Amino acid sequence: MKYHVPVLLNESISGLRIKPEGTYLDLTYGGGGHSKKILEKLGAEGKLISFDRDESALSNNITNNINLELIKSNFKFFDNHIKERGIDKVDGILADLGVSSHQIDKVERGFTYKGDTKLDMRMNISDSLDAVEIINTYDQEKLENIFFNYGNILKPRNIVREIIKQRDKKRILNNTDFIMILNQIFKKEIGYKLLSKFFQAIRIEVNDEINSLKIMLKKSAEFLNRKGRLVIISYHSLEDKIVKNFINKSSFSSDFKKDMFGRKEEFFLKVTKKPIVPSSDEVKINPRSRSAKLRIGERL
Ligand SMILES: C[S@@+](CC[C@H](N)C(=O)[O-])C[C@H]1O[C@@H](n2cnc3c(N)ncnc32)[C@H](O)[C@@H]1O
Repeated sequence: MKYHVPVLLNESISGLRIKPEGTYLDLTYGGGGHSKKILEKLGAEGKLISFDRDESALSNNITNNINLELIKSNFKFFDNHIKERGIDKVDGILADLGVSSHQIDKVERGFTYKGDTKLDMRMNISDSLDAVEIINTYDQEKLENIFFNYGNILKPRNIVREIIKQRDKKRILNNTDFIMILNQIFKKEIGYKLLSKFFQAIRIEVNDEINSLKIMLKKSAEFLNRKGRLVIISYHSLEDKIVKNFINKSSFSSDFKKDMFGRKEEFFLKVTKKPIVPSSDEVKINPRSRSAKLRIGERL
């Protein structure tokens, strides 16, 4: 089975506007689809450093190209790794957020609502916090916040109350246990759309995805050369809003970042006024691409 089919491949790579002698970061190596394409555009002097927090991604070797270096790390630490290598600025940064098809399809990784498997959802299997821990130990308020903020579940109070009642009777270990409880709460077999909201919310919390994204974005502004490109593909509205505000307003809200004198601070020229989305042909070939949104900023 293919590790992962890259999404918006040509659009994102042309968005990086690669110089053959430049230094680039692919912060989400996954199946290496985007990295491979970047390498094709680099000359002998060029360099690509690719990161993934999941070691199974990095063992999926796609090339022996000596211009590529792979690093196992959360991308929020990319600055430490490049500084260690004597690099203080780069020419382009790409991040294709979320999970790979490999992570979802490997049932035992516990990301999926299909099959029967222990709830896990850790991208980095050395992390200590997993989905079982969250579902069984977080209090009412914390679970409500996760489902509301990360899953867009608008009225989570009674749902969480029932989950807590059930977990007090028997620890919730597997995806099937969790789905059965949700079905009982909703008094019907809930469809994949609603189910995926709950799973997405828990996954974002397990992997601290929003915090990592914000830290990485801030660092991207610091480490990109002038005219260097920031290219981000996101898969849900919460992430896209963060990326949009950061590229357009240099902040995580819809107000501009201001310096100590109250002057607007602008990090990026927005290259994409509206996000680029996959064509209907791409969605037909790769349905998992359907929610993708690509935004590009150019460092001022
Ligand atoms: C959508 S896949 C990337 C697919 C890749 N662009 C390709 O074409 O094959 C996302 C990958 O990013 C990794 N990832 C997600 N968040 C990360 C983070 N904060 N730090 C490092 N890797 C992360 C995941 O483990 C996963 O392998």
